[in-house]
Amino acid sequence: MENEMIKGTMEIELIESTPTKDDFIILHQTTGWNAKGLYTYDQLYSAICNSWYSVSIYHDRSLIGFGRIISDGIYQTLICDVMVHPEYQTQGIGTKIMNALLKKCDKEGIKWVQLFCAKGKQDFYKKLGFVTRDVEAPGMSLFL
Ligand SMILES: CC(C)(COP(=O)(O)OP(=O)(O)OC[C@H]1O[C@@H](n2cnc3c(N)ncnc32)[C@H](O)[C@@H]1OP(=O)(O)O)[C@@H](O)C(=O)NCCC(=O)NCCS
Repeated sequence: MENEMIKGTMEIELIESTPTKDDFIILHQTTGWNAKGLYTYDQLYSAICNSWYSVSIYHDRSLIGFGRIISDGIYQTLICDVMVHPEYQTQGIGTKIMNALLKKCDKEGIKWVQLFCAKGKQDFYKKLGFVTRDVEAPGMSLFL
């Protein structure tokens, strides 16, 4: 657990664990990611509970940020579900989440970290050092 002032004004708390289901649902709904109702919130919450590592960020005990890693702990590592409540965006909280996730990877000796970038968020990840995959070795996916 870690307390820190973001941009000198707001005291926030970072906890290395998953939030409660209710808190997670409220934050997740701000992203609109489940607008089509592809998954139930029970499923989404089970998914995050199965993560290798998660961080939750609170302000005044309200969940305002979350991020997680799916990994085998050795060489395949995927950062996903990085989200900051809209009222708290562009105040350094997303960076704080990413730094915590990357610090964990570094501590565990992970050498390669991957993620899928949502539309329009490339600059956020580029500022953290991420680069787009080579066009000759693109990420690929299949919807079932
Ligand atoms: C993407 C997201 C996590 C960024 O979190 P944040 O707390 O707003 O980001 P930060 O304040 O730490 O921003 C760090 C830097 O990235 C930049 N940045 C943040 N979001 C950006 C965006 N959408 N486009 C371009 N730059 C962005 C900031 O301007 C800042 O730059 P600076 O250091 O030069 O000031 C947040 O906007 C979010 O939760 N969005 C909705 C969910 C989402 O799309 N998640 C990403 C899934 S891949």
